[in-house]
Amino acid sequence: MNVVDVDVPGGRYPIRIAPGRLDALDEAIPADATAIGLVTNPTVGALYAERAERALARAGRRVLRIELPDGEAHKDWQTLNQIFDALLANGFDRRSVLVALGGGVIGDMTGFAAAVFMRGIRFVQVPTTLLAQVDSSVGGKTGVNHPLGKNMIGAFHQPVAVEIDTDVLGTLPAREVSAGLAEVIKYGMIMDPAFWAWCEENAAALRALEPAAIAHAIQVSCESKARVVAQDEREGGLRAILNLGHTFGHAIESGLGYGAWLHGEAVGCGMVQAAELSAEVAGFPAADVARVRALVAAIGCPTVAPDLGAQHWMDLMRVDKKAEGGEIRFVLTPRIGEALTRKAPEDAVLRVLARTVGPV
Ligand code: NAD
Ligand code: GLY
Repeated sequence: MNVVDVDVPGGRYPIRIAPGRLDALDEAIPADATAIGLVTNPTVGALYAERAERALARAGRRVLRIELPDGEAHKDWQTLNQIFDALLANGFDRRSVLVALGGGVIGDMTGFAAAVFMRGIRFVQVPTTLLAQVDSSVGGKTGVNHPLGKNMIGAFHQPVAVEIDTDVLGTLPAREVSAGLAEVIKYGMIMDPAFWAWCEENAAALRALEPAAIAHAIQVSCESKARVVAQDEREGGLRAILNLGHTFGHAIESGLGYGAWLHGEAVGCGMVQAAELSAEVAGFPAADVARVRALVAAIGCPTVAPDLGAQHWMDLMRVDKKAEGGEIRFVLTPRIGEALTRKAPEDAVLRVLARTVGPV
């Protein structure tokens, strides 16, 4: 088993990575927990909830399964409320613990419920998608979407542990694997040129979920994210680099309607657009733009963005948590392995949109 520790001002928690972790979930439950709420959805629940419940039962606490509808379209207030309804109807108290069994949607909603239920209870992340294993389960960002903007309502709330069972990736649809790989290559592009080159060499092995390759990718991704979050838990500065491709990507997601493109697909395409913008305003070499486009395609993500109309694109990108005083801020890469956040002139953004959108 590999363990990566996340050190944040409020404490320290482990990310445990190994095949079969699902059968040891009781190890993540704090000794003084009074009850356990296992939050999942019907897709993941049918595959893994019984195993998770068997393991959690060994902690000797009542385990209540809470199933939310599956999908990004349900990452909203109404669905979140189902968690509170279940907890209150079943007498959960401040020492109860939630366990998020699922992808980033379940993880973000469970984390947010834990952040605000009785002003904050503990929770464990059990990420079952690649995207959630390499990104969303780590670092304590939780929340739901608003019709006007992605992840606009939320809180920072760190889990007490992250339990990554690499075996569960075996049931993940290929499209979801590609979406997760977008967040994997992101770490290379913003902070680790050697890892970027390794991803270029291993794109096919990663898509095929070859065990050694995928284990290495998860390990490096978690270490990278843990390093950033340890320095800037609440995104006062540095942490914003983890949003490479997200300003464009979030516009795609909300512009097309949540769920039309997978989050990782939108981020992958957004990374191509961010590379183009970096070439316009941050000296990113044209040859590296081509490398970014090629790797995003190689992992199976789209490289041509939807034509939402230039004005609509700009309006959507203004609804971004990095925006300040109505001005959009982008994560840019002067070179592969280095990132910064800054405003970009509107004419440069419009030029990038003109050459990156098309029929999809
Ligand atoms: P998701 O949670 O919707 O999961 C994708 C699909 O895969 C779902 O249908 C799910 O039921 C299914 N699934 C999950 N595990 C499975 C398995 N092992 N086998 C078969 N099917 C499985 O999507 P996601 O890509 O995991 O997460 C995307 C969400 O994460 C977005 O809402 C995004 O905003 C959020 N996110 C959050 C952070 C953060 O830091 N909090 C970071 C990145 C992304
Ligand atoms: N996925 C961006 C962040 O965690 O900050």
